[in-house]
Parts: sequence; C-alpha cells; structure tokens
Amino acid sequence: MASGGTGDELVFFVNGKKVVEKNVDPETTLLIYLRRKLGLCGTKLGCGEGGCGACTVMISKYDNLQKKIIHYSANACLFPICALHHVAVTTVEGIGNTKTRLHPAQERIAKSHGSQCGFCTPGIVMSMYALLRNAPEPNMEEIEDAFQGNLCRCTGYRPILEGYRTFAKDWGCCGRAANGPGCCKTEKENSANQGCCGKRGNGPSCCMNEKEENAVTISSSLFNPAEFQPLDPTQEPIFPPELLTQNSKPLKQLCFKGERVMWIQPTTLQELVALKAQHPSAKLVVGNTEVGIEMRLKNMLYPVILAPAWIPEMNFVQHTDKGIAFGASCTLSLVEKVLSKAVAELPPYKTEVFKAVLEQLRWFAGLQIRNVASLGGNIMTASPISDLNPVFMASETQLTLASTEGKRIVTVDEKFFTGYRKTMLKPEEILLSIEIPYSRKGEYFSAFKQATRREDDIAIVTCGMRVLFQEDSHRVQKIKLSYGGMAPTTVLAVKTCQKLTGRDWNEKLMQEACHLLADEMNLSPSAPGGMVDFRRILTLSFFFKFYLTVLQKLSQQLNGNNNLSEMLPSSYLSATELFHKDPIANVQLFQEVPPGQAVEDTVGRPLMHLSAAKQACGEAVYCDDIPHYENELYCTLVTSTKAHAKIISVDTTETQSVPGFVCFISAKDIPGSNVTGIANDETVFADDTVTCVGHIIGGVLADTQEHSRKAAKAVKIKYEDLTPIVTIEEAIEKKSFFKRIRKINKGNVQKGFEESDHILEGEMYIGGQEHFYLETHCTVAVPKGEDGEMELFVSTQNLTKTQEFVANVLGVPSNRILIRVKRMGGGFGGKETRNTILSTVVAVAAFKTGCPVRCMLDRDEDMLISGGRHPFLGQYKVGFMNNGKVNSLEVSYYSNGGNSVDLSYGVMERALFHLDNAYNIPNVSSLGIVCKTNLSSNTAFRGFGGPQGMMIAECWMHDIAMKCGLPAEQVRKLNLYNEGDLTHFNQKLEGFTVQRCWEECLESSNYHARRKLIDEFNRQNRWKKRGMAIIPTKFGISFTVPFLNQAGALLHVYTDGSVLLTHGGTEMGQGLHTKMIQVASRTLGIPTSKIYISETSTNTVPNTSPTAASVSSDINGMAVYNACQTILKRLKPFKQSNPKGSWEDWIQAAYVNCVSLSATGFYRMPDLGYDFDKNEGKPFCYFTYGVASSEVEIDCLTGDHKNLRTDIVMDVGTSLNPAIDIGQIEGAFVQGIGLFTLEELRYSPEGNLYTRGPGMYKIPAFGDIPSEFYVSLLRNCPNSKAIYSSKAVGEPPLFLSASVFYAIKDAIFSARRESGLTEPFRLDSPATPERIRNACVDIFTKLCPSAEPGTFKPWSVRA
Ligand SMILES: Cc1cc2nc3c(=O)[nH]c(=O)nc-3n(C[C@H](O)[C@H](O)[C@H](O)COP(=O)(O)OP(=O)(O)OC[C@H]3O[C@@H](n4cnc5c(N)ncnc54)[C@H](O)[C@@H]3O)c2cc1C
Ligand code: FES
Ligand code: FES
Repeated sequence: MASGGTGDELVFFVNGKKVVEKNVDPETTLLIYLRRKLGLCGTKLGCGEGGCGACTVMISKYDNLQKKIIHYSANACLFPICALHHVAVTTVEGIGNTKTRLHPAQERIAKSHGSQCGFCTPGIVMSMYALLRNAPEPNMEEIEDAFQGNLCRCTGYRPILEGYRTFAKDWGCCGRAANGPGCCKTEKENSANQGCCGKRGNGPSCCMNEKEENAVTISSSLFNPAEFQPLDPTQEPIFPPELLTQNSKPLKQLCFKGERVMWIQPTTLQELVALKAQHPSAKLVVGNTEVGIEMRLKNMLYPVILAPAWIPEMNFVQHTDKGIAFGASCTLSLVEKVLSKAVAELPPYKTEVFKAVLEQLRWFAGLQIRNVASLGGNIMTASPISDLNPVFMASETQLTLASTEGKRIVTVDEKFFTGYRKTMLKPEEILLSIEIPYSRKGEYFSAFKQATRREDDIAIVTCGMRVLFQEDSHRVQKIKLSYGGMAPTTVLAVKTCQKLTGRDWNEKLMQEACHLLADEMNLSPSAPGGMVDFRRILTLSFFFKFYLTVLQKLSQQLNGNNNLSEMLPSSYLSATELFHKDPIANVQLFQEVPPGQAVEDTVGRPLMHLSAAKQACGEAVYCDDIPHYENELYCTLVTSTKAHAKIISVDTTETQSVPGFVCFISAKDIPGSNVTGIANDETVFADDTVTCVGHIIGGVLADTQEHSRKAAKAVKIKYEDLTPIVTIEEAIEKKSFFKRIRKINKGNVQKGFEESDHILEGEMYIGGQEHFYLETHCTVAVPKGEDGEMELFVSTQNLTKTQEFVANVLGVPSNRILIRVKRMGGGFGGKETRNTILSTVVAVAAFKTGCPVRCMLDRDEDMLISGGRHPFLGQYKVGFMNNGKVNSLEVSYYSNGGNSVDLSYGVMERALFHLDNAYNIPNVSSLGIVCKTNLSSNTAFRGFGGPQGMMIAECWMHDIAMKCGLPAEQVRKLNLYNEGDLTHFNQKLEGFTVQRCWEECLESSNYHARRKLIDEFNRQNRWKKRGMAIIPTKFGISFTVPFLNQAGALLHVYTDGSVLLTHGGTEMGQGLHTKMIQVASRTLGIPTSKIYISETSTNTVPNTSPTAASVSSDINGMAVYNACQTILKRLKPFKQSNPKGSWEDWIQAAYVNCVSLSATGFYRMPDLGYDFDKNEGKPFCYFTYGVASSEVEIDCLTGDHKNLRTDIVMDVGTSLNPAIDIGQIEGAFVQGIGLFTLEELRYSPEGNLYTRGPGMYKIPAFGDIPSEFYVSLLRNCPNSKAIYSSKAVGEPPLFLSASVFYAIKDAIFSARRESGLTEPFRLDSPATPERIRNACVDIFTKLCPSAEPGTFKPWSVRA
C-alpha cells in the first residue's frame, strides 16, 4: 500500500468501527486497505479486476436520492478508498465467526458442503449477506442473480445454491418429498430413511423401493436443513448513527493527495465544471470499474480524479414527457430498478426501449459491478463493446452535457463516437444526464448480446435494433440498427437502414437486409478480437431474430389484417424466445453406512469439510494472509515480453528513483545453481535467451507491493528477436519435439483395417486450460540467519520439489530448507511443480537481502507464466464394422509442451494409457509426441492428459456412429470392455463396473424416452436444437512413475489425549485432511474432534510425493492407518489392563510407563511397474469408473447453449465421505464443462497470451451448471485396493463432462441436417459459441464466407 498521502481526513466505518484516515493515497483500493492496514484478511484477492467476486464486501450508506439507507455488494478490489467517505463497510469478519456465532449465510454454505478450498467462500457469503439485508426472504432468481459476479473453481456451484436455497421463499421444500412425510420442511429430523430421492417419484426405481431390493439404504441427505439457525434480520448490525447525523451537515469539498494521484470530490456542479475546466484531462470516477482497470492492468496514470458522487444534478431520476432521465452517476442497478418498475406500470408499447436496456443489463457484468458502475461511465468509456451504447444509438437517446460554458443536448447517433474510446465531448465537458426515450405505437425495439459466457462477460457482438412502421401498416418508416463489436466504436448500419426504409417487413426485406449487412458489417480477417466469421454471422443472426420478433409482434398488433403470421412458421417461433433459466433440480444419492456403525465412526458419512466454517468466516489462513514481518520486502517479477529472443541488455537505472526500491535480482545473484526444473532443462532466471512471453528475467524488491510493481515497470530490456514456434502445427512443421516419443502398440493394426467394413480418418484439436485456482501462486520466504536456514510458506502441492529446488538454487543441503503449507486456495495440478518458478526466485531474494520476502502473483502474471493443461492434437484412423464394432485404431497424439519438459512426458503417457477410454480395441498403434514451443511450460492439470486421450476416443466413436447412421449410445455400448478384458496396455480389468454404471445411468436419466422427446423437439424447432449423449469413463489410479506411489505420516498423541496428525498430502480444498482425520478416527476409535491437522511440512514428513494423481487419500490414508496401528499396538497392554478405561486413561498410562506416543506410518502401492517396450506390467493399481448422460439445447443462430440436464453414476468404491466425493464429482464435472465448452486460451501469432484474466478467460459460472443435476454413487462396490474399500475420485469424473460436448455435437448434427449435411463433421474443443455457430451451416453462414487461410495474418491463434 502506497503511503504518504496528504489532504483531508477520510472517515468511514468498517464492521461498526470508525476509521479516520489522515494519509490516504487515492490509488489504494478498499481491498488493500482492509488486508494490509486493518489486517482483515477474510476479503480475498482473486483477480483484482472485478471478475471473480472473491473480494466482495457490503457497502451501506444513506442514499440521498432514495432517501434511505441502502446496502449493496461491491468488489473491494476496484473500490477506491477515497470513495468511502461517510460510508459503512461490512466484511465477512463483521457478520459472524467461529468463536461466537456463525451468521446463517456462513453456516449454511459450510454445512451444505459449499466450501472446498474456501478461497471464494467469503465473497460468496458476502454476496448472499448483502442480498439478505435487502430481501430476508429472497426468491431463487434473486439468489442466482446475486452470484452473477462470483466464481468458484472447486464446488461446481450446486452445493452453494442448494444450501442457500433454504433462504428462499419459493424454496418450497427440499425437493425430496414434496412437503410430504420426510420432507425437510415438515420433519425436524430429516432422516434419509424417511425421505425419498425424489428422482422418480416413488416409481419403480425410486430409492425408497430399491432399498429393500438391494438391502442397502440409499440417502439423498448430504446435510440437514433442520440444523440451520434461522435468519433473524433484527439481529443484523445497525447502520452507524454517526453517519446518519453526518448526512444533515453541509458538505465540504474533499481533496486527497497521494504519491501520483490527487482525488477531488466537489459538492456542487459549479465546482465540478470549474475543476474540469481547470483539469481537462482529469477523469471523472464514479464506479471506478473502468478507470480502476485502466490504472491497474493497462498501466494508465490519471494524476487528477474528480469524483461527482455528491452532485445532485448527476444523481437524479426524472420521468419526463419523452422518457426517463437519469443523472449520469446513477448506478446500473438503480437504472434496472427504475426501468423494471416502468415496464410493469406503463403500457407495453411505451417501454420497448426500456425492455431492451433491461435485457442488456440482465447480462451486464455481475451484481457487484452493476451496484457501483454508472450509466454515464458506460457511455463515456465509449467502449466498442459497450452493451448499452448500441441501444442508446438505435433509440436516439439524448444526453445533456455541461461545462463552464453552460449546458447542451446531443443525441447518441453515428457521429457521437469519434474513435476508439473517444466521444464528441470537449475535454472540459462532462456528461450530466441521459434521457432514455419511450417508444411509440408501431415502434419495436430489440437488443441482443452474444458473449463467450452468458453471465458476467463482455460481448463478442452486441446490438440495439429499432423499427418504426407507418401507421397501421408493416411499411418501414424508420429503422436503426446499431452494433457493438464490429468496429473500433459502436456503429450504425447506415446504408442498410437507408435501403430498408420504405420497404415492407417481409421475407424479401429480411433477405436483402442480410445481404446488405454482410456487406456493410464486414471485418478484415485480421481484425482485432478475432472470431471474424462468427462476428459477421452474428450481425445477420441478430437481425434475423429481430425480424422474426417484430413479425410476431406486428402480426398480433395488426389484428390479423395481414398475412404476416403466415410468414412465420411455427418452427421458427422459438428463435425469438429470450433466454430463460429453468428451475434448478438436483439429487445426490449415496449409500448410507451399515446399520450398527458407531455414531462417532464418521467413515462413510457426509462429514463437513473440517475447515469449512473457518473458511466461511474468513478465518482460514492462506499463504498471503500470514501477517507481514517487520522488515519484509515485496518481490515483483520482471518477465519477458517476447516469446523467443536474445537478451541484449537489462537496464535498471530508472528503478532507483522509485520510492522504496531496494534492489534488482537476476541470475548473477544466485548462490547455488541456476539450473532447475523437473528435467533440469529450465533456469531460475533467463540467462541470455528468453523462450516464452513471461519467462522470468529478474525480480525487483521494494518496501511495498505497489513500489516494487512500479519499479519493475521501470526496468528496460532490449531484445533481439528470434523466430518463435507457437502452435502444435508449427512445431510439427519444424519438427520441434522433446526427445522422448512414446508408443503403445497391440495386435495387428493393418490386418484390423483390412478386416473392417469402413475406415475413417480424422483429426481433433483440444485446447489447453488455465487452472484458475482462485488463489494465485504465493511464496513468503523467511531467512533464519544461520547456516543457510530458510523457512518458506508456499502455496504448493509439492513440498519436496519446492524444498529440493530452493536448496539447489541457494546451494545448501535440503535439511536447511523448511517448506510449510497450511492450505491452498485450489491447486488442480497447477501447483504441482510450477510454484517452484516463483518460490526459487523469492528464496534468492530473501537470501540476497537477508529479509523476509513475499510475492503473490497478480492474476495476469499467474496466467501468463505458470502454464496450464496441454493442448492436444489427435490424428486418427479407425477401422470398424457396419454395426459400429471397432477393429483397429491408429492414432497420433501431439501435445503442446511449451518451453520445458516439466511433466509433459507423464501427461503424454497418461493420454496414451487412456486412448481407449472404456472401449475394447483389438488392434492399436499409438504414438505420443510432445511439441517444444515458445509458450510457458504446460504442466499437470486434473486428469493429467487422461481427458485429452479419452476425448479423441470419443471423437472417433461419434464419427463411427454418424458414419454408420446408428445412435451413438448403441455404438458406444457395443464397444465397451467387459470384466476380465485386457486393455491395450495389457492390464486385466478386474471389478469393471462401467457396464453397471451405464445401465443405471440409462435408466435413471430415462435416456431412451428423452431421446424420443428430443427428436420431436428438433422436428418442431428450426433454430433451436437439442442433443444428448452418454459417455463412460475409466481412469487409471496411481502415479505412472511407480516410486511416487509412497506416502508417510506422523502421529503425535499428547498426554491430554489429543492427537496431532501430519501426513504427506496437502489440503487444497479436496477435503484430504478431513478424510485423513476420518481414517485416523476410525482406526484409533476416537472421535474426530480429538484429532487435528495443522499443516504439511518438510520437517514432519519428509520426501513426500506431490498431492496429485488422485491417489493422496489412498496412499496417505494407508500411511495414517499404519501410524495409528503402531500407536494401537503400543497401547494394547494398557487397554488390556484397563478395558473399561477411556482413551485418555490409556494415553496417560502409556506416558507414565515411558511408552512413545509418537509414531510414523509409511505405505507404498504394491506391484506397480510398466514396460513400454514390451507393453507389459501394471501401470495402475486399479481404475475408477463412471458414466454420465447430458442433454443440451443450442441456439443455432447465436451458438449459445444451455445445459439442461446431467445424470452421473460414479463408482467410488465405498465412499470415505460421500459429501466430499460428490463434491469432487460435481466440481470436476463443472471444471470439465469449462474445458470442453467455455475456456479458450488465445495467443497472438507471436506467442503473446491475450487471455490473462477473468475478463477474457471464462471459467464456468453459477449459470453454466446443468439445470437438473443428478449424481449417484454406485452401491455395493467396495474396492479391496484402497483404504477402507474406497476409491480415488479427484480426477476421474472430469472427463464425464465430455457428455456435454458430445450432446452439443449431437444437436449441431440435427441443425446441419436441416441444411442437408449428414456426414461426420469436425468439432474441436472447446465447443464455444463461435464453434457451435460456425458448425451450424445455413443461409447466414453462407453469406459470410471465410477468408482463404494463409492470405492474412489472424489476430489470434490456438496453441
Ligand atoms: C468485471 C467487469 C465487467 C463488465 N461488464 C460489462 C458488460 O457486460 N457490458 C459493458 O458494457 N460493460 C461492462 N463493463 C464495463 C464497465 O463496468 C462500464 O463501462 C461501467 O458502466 C463504467 O462505469 P463506472 O461508473 O464504473 O465508470 P468509471 O470507471 O468511474 O469511469 C469510466 C469513464 O467514464 C468517464 N465518466 C464517468 N462519468 C462521466 C461523466 N458524467 N462525464 C464524463 N465522463 C464520465 C470517466 O472519466 C472514465 O473515463 C465491465 C467492467 C468490469 C470491471
Ligand atoms: S478480486 Fe475483486 S473481483 Fe476478483
Ligand atoms: S471453494 Fe470455491 S474456489 Fe475453491
């Protein structure tokens, strides 16, 4: 936090306590202030750009316009501290805690298992809390809307919604027994023995009926709502009375001066315009949602900021003759509220424009942003993808401008925006107000937006469209079509509008309009933003939707005095429907523990994650929450801006003048070795060449994060460009491969082809994936002052490699380096090795300065430098029979490894081991090659190559079905393995449950009946299509490097009987520590409350394997078990001599008799080892299986899709903890939805990553999960190969989300059939709106042909 501000006193309240700040720096955000100055670390930094919601707080203030106290959620990361004068802030710490009482919003998310890693949890709690302060009994829609600006990477959202659904007035009931007996609402004790799964309404396969049949009890109760504290709104903290009295006092202009920026908050319009005349380049800041981003991410500096928060003329709402006028500072939430009321009250013909504004606001950012962002700010930002400006342009909205010269009124027309982010306002002018007009009779208006993700995403193309008809006719009097996303400004399709004026609204007009628009809304194939074909097609699709919508309204309006309705086939009607959410429904079924299991034995029970309550209260400590040391320094990385170049010089002269600068570190400062990496092919700092954008060249140390950031920007580097290799295709062309090429061959492929009825060849590309753990990489290194000792707090899944690499770079033995990990805010493989690139730098910094050094990467740095899931290209040739039976497969996998080997070989090997998915292929020839490119090294990511390997299998499987004209599920089923079959790597399948999962999934999803309904739907709808797919998975469990399958544990029992447990695994949200405590509790026979895990550290359990490969519960569980057994053995004599004694008695006796109460445990998986050359041996201990069916609906015109329903049946053995296991299944599945349908990494052809934050990179949000989401754990399938008959679960379910991808492909197939296309077609992953739309070939796509590849330089490439 920059210091040294001067000026007025800033007065505000935080959690009821008054804060008076005398030295405010306007560049400080509320988030930084809370975390650093007030030590309130519950509010988290996930992105710093308003895109994740981890920093959500509640703001309360007296609103002069509404004349009441208002409460709203806001992003602390964008909230300027200076905007807090006379405002009250509530953080997660202010509403409840574990010491006194949890607030119901905290309690319910914790108990409903809605918190895994917990990093998103405080933000989600605060969004819910703010909603409850406004609506103590919200409806479900309000709850879902409240979370539009929150992301969670772990849970898959379902448990959060389900926990919070209990607040809803339309909750009705648990959905299980419809208010009948056993219903949560009517029964205090909601025992699963009474309730039913609700899934099949007590029908033939209802869980209630199955109970007897299978002699097991099935439960659908992962939590018990009857336990929840009621919400009592009267108990909420009151608004500080002092702020209410302040409100009646006269206002005085405020001024705060920081190191670089001055903030002035005038009290009158006269003052404001005078200031603007004095500082014409000053920025007006209202919500700071644009200026904040520009200053943080775009390196802009605005020395003078004017805050118009107190200007009455800019904060008003007035109904006029022509429409509704809003002061420019009105927030978007207020606009939404006022317009919604107007739409409800006014005649519909008057509110066409209002409805269009509301439709745009519905998908505008998240609620936290809309609560602070201003209407004026959106117009004046003049972004070409503003959602509101096309509406204002098409509706000819009028603006009032003001300056010292007076006021003037202008219209938002084609001349208003004069260039990229420029308007026709003079520098000294400000926007005072906006008048949104009423529509007239005979006037129609629509607005459309298409983005990558529906919720909280900026538009790819957005538009406002208006037509006015001559009285009582369908002849166009005036038409305005305005688009965003098609040029550097919002534009009007002037020529098209001219040509359409005076024409009748009919098919001919529509066709001509499309031709005209295709011509007028043209884009260069190299246009910034890319997606050129898609954007062009969207302009036509939107017009077509507008045409149909107007036709429909017109035909109703003209009372049948026309033949317009005949022009509208009924199958076209659904094309005009606006997106609506279906009510959510979900059930999770699991097998209850056997009758008679002791109550305190929690194994098999849905025990809450043991840190969940702390996480929900903001008390859980993550790496950056560790209090700052007195002499601590901050390190900012200096990284390459070139993908491949020689470093000519590094000039640090200008850093010296940055306040607080301490030193620059580089390779020269390394006391040990600069060589690092899993394959020793990396350096800690680049030597003389950089091999990717983001390659670490050095680090800058300063007293604060802000100073070190500024100093890092002052480092000047000169490069000599070398040619980069970015894509897999380029690497293949240039034969740029890493050395190890793997093959797995079985049978005789050639013979298999000869015996086949058909042979198909194809190719599929699967894009990479960013981990997007909510907590970015973080290290705090503390030198201990003697013998080279250093203690490092690291957010890592891999303590051993971190210790080894740090020791290596410092030139000390490993025994001087202590690595400690309490928990991570998510890992997903991204912290398995790549954290070391940061940890080693921070260690060098701490060594050089002798001071503690901290670095937590910003989201953009993290995304740039730490790599992600490997993109894959699969080329296949498959031979099969007429019935779809596969005979022979030849497949080559290429992955994009990036600039170092890291874990790429392992990832490729796992891909090859999974090339069969769950299918028996008699003859296989496969090849796996890792491409060496100039991208940041790609690394482990949940599934570790497995999903990519299986995805290609499903691609050729789908092609086979299309080619044979058979239902895909029939072909898949035909090819499934059977018990005892040998895989292509010759491992025998024992306990193969896929067939069981398949049948159960078919039945529970009612697959065949729904398939028929889908066919009917598709017949009746031309522009919306539905699709469905059922996909199996088989996932090999164990590290494929055999020696990693070992684990240790350390167990101390203290004389009071309490147990401190440590094991080799780390907690990253997956509930490992909770499961380990359950294992220890059962083994020792004591309650879980007596056992505690504090952290994972290298001085307690040495040489740990990374927490990865899904095996952590298996191997650490056994190690814990062994340690417990040792203790039990030692206690035996004392138990025997005092059989009625308590645990504490035996411990005391053992202690008094000098028996050690500390034990280690160790375990290694037996019989592992595979020989690639001989294709023999056993790579996996066992397999985890599952099957999912998914149904989707696509909008063929826009490429949008809805996930309607998913049913998953998963074999996780005998679950150690069904809540955690179901959480893993749902979380992995939703992460997979991101991989296969949403998340797209985009690079410049020069290898520069564009997608560096949540603004451009879209992980699934609340609205992306299937509306109906059913998960059941397969019953009676104990696994003899893991602790207490359980199975590994972390990675295997991820691939099941391929069912969504293939359901989309199925729907696209139906759309293509309308255009006469029935052959197999290529669909690469992810199935983004762009890919879906482009694949739905129709009259509109034909009007926008693609430019010839090679004739232009694209804006972006896929890696
Ligand atoms: C996470 C996120 C999501 C977003 N999603 C969307 C989206 O879906 N659609 C979309 O269109 N936009 C989106 N935006 C952009 C942004 O929220 C809007 O443009 C917002 O309306 C800006 O308002 P503000 O009050 O925060 O502006 P500020 O940042 O305070 O100011 C923005 C600009 O407007 C100028 N300005 C403000 N008021 C006046 C005035 N009265 N007179 C003259 N100049 C003025 C300022 O000088 C500055 O240049 C998003 C932003 C974020 C951070
Ligand atoms: S940290 Fe503020 S929204 Fe992500
Ligand atoms: S629990 Fe939501 S991000 Fe981890």
